[in-house]
Amino acid sequence: MTKKIAILASGGGSNAEQLMRHFEQTDCAEVSMVACNRKEAGVYAKAAAYGLECKHLTRADFYESDRFAQLLIQEKIDLVVLAGFLWFIPPAFIETFRGKIVNIHPSLLPKHGGKGMYGHHVHEAVKAAGELESGMTVHWVNEKYDEGGIIFQDKVALLDTDSPEEIGRKVLVLEHKNYAKVVEKLICS
Ligand code: GRF
Repeated sequence: MTKKIAILASGGGSNAEQLMRHFEQTDCAEVSMVACNRKEAGVYAKAAAYGLECKHLTRADFYESDRFAQLLIQEKIDLVVLAGFLWFIPPAFIETFRGKIVNIHPSLLPKHGGKGMYGHHVHEAVKAAGELESGMTVHWVNEKYDEGGIIFQDKVALLDTDSPEEIGRKVLVLEHKNYAKVVEKLICS
């Protein structure tokens, strides 16, 4: 039975794109839904390029009701994959999909995670801390920001001349290299 993946994104969607590309060529699972909470996000166009209509996620559907959760249940989604999704996941949603929500974070958690630590904020903190390496973490999502069990990490050496932007570029390469394969191992084995 082909497993079904729902991707939640808020931004450019480069991780979502890698996931859609990977699962277009993988029989055991498919990306059957992409949803986004920001109308101007690039992920809408990326989903359309893969024949998927990115669903607009509203606060009414996600926080003020369980309509989105019910939609995922109705669609028989097996795994919820966060890919640059910036909204906090409400406890009721976590409860409904416990053990079925993963996230990718652009640092070697538990370092440089937590509320407000996303995108360039993470790489600026890594730079300010004088880290000799950074990387990416795939983790289970629970009620606390970026504190769910770690599933996979990959790392890259940093030069002291690396800007936060360069750190971000090095980490994004690792994200694109690993996320889809990690998700495949989780859902297809
Ligand atoms: C990535 O850096 C990811 O680690 C973080 O948000 C960013 C998403 O980028 N969660 P994109 O929208 O997938 O290009």
